[in-house]
Amino acid sequence: MDSQEIYDKVRGHYSAVSQRTSPEYGSTVAKSFGYSEKELAGISQEANLGLSCGNPLAIASICEGETVIDLGSGAGFDAFLASNKVGPSGKVIGVDMNKDMLAKSNKIKIETGKTNVEFVESGITDMAVIESGIAHCIISNCVINLVPAAEKTLVFKEMFRLLKPGGRLAISDIMAKKPLPEALRSDMAMYVGCISGASEAYEYQKFLEDAGFREILITDTKCDLNVYIQTNDDGSNKADYCIPPALGKAETEKDGEASSDYCTAGISSRAANCCAAENSYVSLTQGNLNDWVDLRKQSIAMRAATRHVQGLENELALRLM
Ligand SMILES: C[S@@+](CC[C@H](N)C(=O)[O-])C[C@H]1O[C@@H](n2cnc3c(N)ncnc32)[C@H](O)[C@@H]1O
Repeated sequence: MDSQEIYDKVRGHYSAVSQRTSPEYGSTVAKSFGYSEKELAGISQEANLGLSCGNPLAIASICEGETVIDLGSGAGFDAFLASNKVGPSGKVIGVDMNKDMLAKSNKIKIETGKTNVEFVESGITDMAVIESGIAHCIISNCVINLVPAAEKTLVFKEMFRLLKPGGRLAISDIMAKKPLPEALRSDMAMYVGCISGASEAYEYQKFLEDAGFREILITDTKCDLNVYIQTNDDGSNKADYCIPPALGKAETEKDGEASSDYCTAGISSRAANCCAAENSYVSLTQGNLNDWVDLRKQSIAMRAATRHVQGLENELALRLM
């Protein structure tokens, strides 16, 4: 897959997703990643399209008056939540490359009368439209995995450029614990769904370090990625949704567990069927997301990092905790 093809597919996919109108779905997904009912009630439901894969705000320690940049802001979900935290004296800038997402976030901004948030059209590999050194904090939720591998390093350099000295970074993203199988890597549906483009944890660490970040903290949140495929539009659970083992018995046998242990089905009488050998290419777009990227144990990693400045490390480390 070349970079242009990836960008085209990612744009097309998120343009379609921007038209989604199922707030209950978004709410169920967000709550599964730790957002509270109260937080969600503080923003327009339309901003939450159920695209998050963690909760960067939970580790961002955002204070009143701060400037926050949200990379890949989508319909403005975390940007609007952050705008509630920074208050009228602070500012939030959401960055997205997708015009339809930007149209949606700007519409919500106008409808809700928010004056401390703005949305900027830009790729996150080159945000020249934003001045250097203005942000206290950068957040991002399930976006960096969508950037073509060869360009990811640019994203981290840009984040470092945009942060004030001593600024901090709080990211939720999906990453792989081990190399992904080629069939999965080249699966475009899984790529735009934030799985196939996942970097391995050591690569992510290196991107951060090479860009100049220090005090890097990686947390396994052990979230269940199957929430996306197991949730109905009305937010209820697909009780009879069956998740077959993705890569066949040999691949899914771990620690002596049989592959059938990895099946998830709400109705046990159907479990036997769905757990029968499922090793087809088709299953790659429907199966157990946790198994494929070995994220059931690793789950979603959250990272916090600080822009390193001599003498400020301890203070910043404390704030991050
Ligand atoms: C999975 S969605 C997450 C949206 C939002 N962070 C949320 O949690 O609701 C990914 C978003 O990142 C945007 N995006 C993907 N790649 C991007 C890039 N290279 N530059 C800017 N935006 C990008 C997409 O347009 C989409 O809005």
